[in-house]
Amino acid sequence: MQRKVNESTPHAKGNDGSNKNNMSLKLESPLFTLHSSMTAALKPLSFYIHVPFCKAKCTYCDFYSIVGRENSIPAYLKSILKEIEQRTHKLDLSSHYIDTIFFGGGTPNLLDPKHLGQILQKLQVLLQPGEDMEIGMEINPGEANLDNLIAYKNLGVNRISIGMQSFQPHLLTFMSRIHTAEKSFSTYDDVREAGFQNVSGDLIFAVPGQTREEWVGDLERLVSMQPEHISTYSLTVEEGTALHRWVEAGHVEMLEETVDTGMYDWGRDFLEKSGYPNYEISNHAKPGFECRHNLNYWTGVEYLGFGPAAHSFFGGRRSWNIRNLDTYMSDVMNSGTGVADSELISPTMSRNEMILTRLRLAQGLNLSEFSINFGENLLQTKVDMLEKWMDKLVVSKGHLKITREGWALTDEISSDLMI
Ligand SMILES: C[S@@+](CC[C@H](N)C(=O)[O-])C[C@H]1O[C@@H](n2cnc3c(N)ncnc32)[C@H](O)[C@@H]1O
Ligand code: SF4
Repeated sequence: MQRKVNESTPHAKGNDGSNKNNMSLKLESPLFTLHSSMTAALKPLSFYIHVPFCKAKCTYCDFYSIVGRENSIPAYLKSILKEIEQRTHKLDLSSHYIDTIFFGGGTPNLLDPKHLGQILQKLQVLLQPGEDMEIGMEINPGEANLDNLIAYKNLGVNRISIGMQSFQPHLLTFMSRIHTAEKSFSTYDDVREAGFQNVSGDLIFAVPGQTREEWVGDLERLVSMQPEHISTYSLTVEEGTALHRWVEAGHVEMLEETVDTGMYDWGRDFLEKSGYPNYEISNHAKPGFECRHNLNYWTGVEYLGFGPAAHSFFGGRRSWNIRNLDTYMSDVMNSGTGVADSELISPTMSRNEMILTRLRLAQGLNLSEFSINFGENLLQTKVDMLEKWMDKLVVSKGHLKITREGWALTDEISSDLMI
């Protein structure tokens, strides 16, 4: 079974509780916006901001997030602003423009709009924004009120991803979600009322205790709401989570792989028929509404991540920040950086990564791009493996793709093509 690839990296109210004046909040205009003729000469860059605060910890989640620390948001904000300033100052960004900004978590809606605005302002003054920059944020159902949503929109946020996960009360309880299905519906309505025209809903399937009928019902309900984008993640057991402990102790049994695969297959076909073709294993969108930020990760665009546990990829080097809020904040305040470590991406790593990420995409692996980048004709160098998987792979218009029958073996196929 495929593991999820999350919308954030390979990765509410503020301290005064006030929503005052949110409706009138507007981001000061960036210095200027690049038009397409100008961006053609420049390289896209993505920014990721990790917001590590949550109201409760979900049983399955191993993303870096902490509960009960919202009083640290002002200090966190100071650190983020300092990290952005100091790190971007040391880099030569003159040949880049901002293509996407993504606030992921954790729970980004715990940031007051004025805090989010400060971060956006800082980024857009430091670097030139592209003409149709995508600014996305994740929100949790029931946690972002209409005033805040309007304020986020006024600040330039133009894509919202709602973590609905399920509409079944017993599954929400199993996953320790603190919202109800009704909150997912009302939050969705609020997001629309605030004027967002690019909205995504996340659902999780293959949850212990979930029936196929429940999965069908969840997807049908979400499709009836007509979001522009739908992510469907198979529940994975991550080390360090409550779910992992329960499974290890034998208290919980995960669904059979064939059931999991059957749910995915049904979902993928249903979404395709409903106007949401799959563009990546876990992601489906109405044409033109694919998440550009994630596509950037998967197609090798450089990105800079800020906040604890955020990852970056820039100048052929990957780095990752300290996975601890307090250490991150003190390091940033002392030295201007929260980076824990970094590695240079060797040509072999880069080659393997291209195989791994591109084969998960419906568009597949562009063979001439691969050959230009690595001086290798994959159809010749891996002829034995291509023969082994010949009924699961297809070459179409210069791209190597995994067939519908082969998707469940994506990891195995990719690993055979790696060196
Ligand atoms: C890290 S969460 C952050 C968004 C938000 N806090 C929320 O809970 O919806 C992003 C998405 O990752 C998915 N996710 C996280 N852990 C997962 C797991 N172990 N298995 C499957 N999906 C997972 C969930 O669908 C979630 O919406
Ligand atoms: S799934 Fe979302 S809300 Fe739940 S702990 Fe993870 S980041 Fe927080």
